[in-house]
Amino acid sequence: MPLSTLPLFKALQRSAESMPTLAARFAENSQRVQQLTFHVGDELLVDISRQQVCPAVLQQLCDLARQMNLPKAIAGLFADNQFNPTEQRAVLHTALRMPAGAVLMRNGENIIPVVHAELAKMRRFCQRIHNGEWRGYTGLPVTDVVNIGIGGSDLGPAMVCEALKPYCTTGIRAHFVSNIDPAHLATTLNQLNPATTLFVVSSKSFGTDETMSNAVAARQWLLNACGDDSLIQQHFVAVSTNHRKVVEFGIAAENMFEFWDWVGGRFSLWSAIGLPIALAVGFERFEELLAGAHAMDEHLRTTPLEQNIPVLLALLTVWNHNVLGHASEGVFPYSQLMHRFPAFLQQLNMESNGKSVTLNGEPVSCATGPIVFGDVGSNSQHAFFQLLHQGTAVVPAEFIGFVNSPYDFAAHRHKLLANMLAQAEALAFGKPAAEVQAELRAEGVSEQRIAELLPSKVMPGNRPSTVILCKELTPHTLGSLIALYEHKTFVQGVLWSVNSFDQWGVELGKKLASGLVSALAGETDASNHDAATQSLVKQICRWSTP
Ligand code: F6P
Repeated sequence: MPLSTLPLFKALQRSAESMPTLAARFAENSQRVQQLTFHVGDELLVDISRQQVCPAVLQQLCDLARQMNLPKAIAGLFADNQFNPTEQRAVLHTALRMPAGAVLMRNGENIIPVVHAELAKMRRFCQRIHNGEWRGYTGLPVTDVVNIGIGGSDLGPAMVCEALKPYCTTGIRAHFVSNIDPAHLATTLNQLNPATTLFVVSSKSFGTDETMSNAVAARQWLLNACGDDSLIQQHFVAVSTNHRKVVEFGIAAENMFEFWDWVGGRFSLWSAIGLPIALAVGFERFEELLAGAHAMDEHLRTTPLEQNIPVLLALLTVWNHNVLGHASEGVFPYSQLMHRFPAFLQQLNMESNGKSVTLNGEPVSCATGPIVFGDVGSNSQHAFFQLLHQGTAVVPAEFIGFVNSPYDFAAHRHKLLANMLAQAEALAFGKPAAEVQAELRAEGVSEQRIAELLPSKVMPGNRPSTVILCKELTPHTLGSLIALYEHKTFVQGVLWSVNSFDQWGVELGKKLASGLVSALAGETDASNHDAATQSLVKQICRWSTP
């Protein structure tokens, strides 16, 4: 049965009709914070005490999840289960971070040794790059790696390489080119020496236009420098599931790292798609990342729903989005190193759960994926937080903070964390009229001016947020954090009965774009397109310089 038709869902809607404020909830329950704070090991805690829920509502949400067969779905995520029926694919990214001795049978074969064989190939390759054994066409070792990929073949590794910058001690600099905008490739190549550059062409399908166009252009750039086709092999490796297309492109089979159709693109950074990460931070650090993700997998698999962090975060989305009607979710890492995390999460969550039909192909009965957006703190405070505090839309917020940092400037770190804590407090408790009045009177402001200013200065508060607090941004913690969000996304999809693992919505635009390329080149007209497109094509052709 669809989520919103269940009696428990109706009961949740009734609970929402007469809710105390967050301030009242804190006042009436001195144990609230303890009851609503959850730990994973000694490195990560999640405080949901500032969400508009009480333990009774959380219990109702967990019961709802049981009615939606969530425990069975979670078990299925660690077994050979076909969660992606429209592409007829299994969903087994959790296998990528299982330890070597684990067993996961797929079509009668244990896939864990296959996963570890590929990891071993990555390890050997990293060693050869790091110890200078692998050399470019002039005999010099590699200094720079350029990942050419887009979407899931870019966002994950790019985000992790930024987040783990303090661990990038191998001497290999990682660059990421994704956009078909020539500025992206050109500005990246401008900084590089072809003789010491290695390209990693990353594409699950090895057919994505942006990636293949950038790869072809990069190959030409290299050929212009080395002048000999046969030398290119030393500068190109591929990561893909498509062996045939890699070889057709001209990359030697032994220079291809493989992953499998049971790994979705946006869940693939744990596979060979993570090669640039391993090259930049070292293979051991990459293994720590995998271990962190596996720890979160074990948390999801073994923890009762009532204490299960990804489950609770997904249930809070149901509560905020479906019951309370808040259409978006903000994610705010208080860490400059995490500046790519919101973009990564946008693909993870919005490509997974931006769906309008259920697994049975019927229209969904309630809203699915919220609009996910965010940026790092404290920058975002000075940009768009005004709307979070006093706007008409309520934006449930997730703050992510890290207690320790490898950098000096301890005072900065305290200020950073203080800002994060202050935002969560201000959103929850606001500033009532009496407080604003008292403050203005103390400053000697006239009563008339106070009356004028009061409506603008009152902060309504009662705006929900979660705080995820981590001890430090290590590879292990980052692995756990990413897996936490992967699982949150998966659980949401189960609750909404959607296929979180396909993305048909992006196909139409790709097809239309490929048809328009020849029109923009003046080779065909755009008469099979709509009037607005035809008019814009004409204008582009008029303005276009040869
Ligand atoms: O266009 C969307 C998409 O298919 C994503 O789902 C995927 O991560 C990205 O394109 C790149 O695909 P590929 O790895 O096959 O190049």
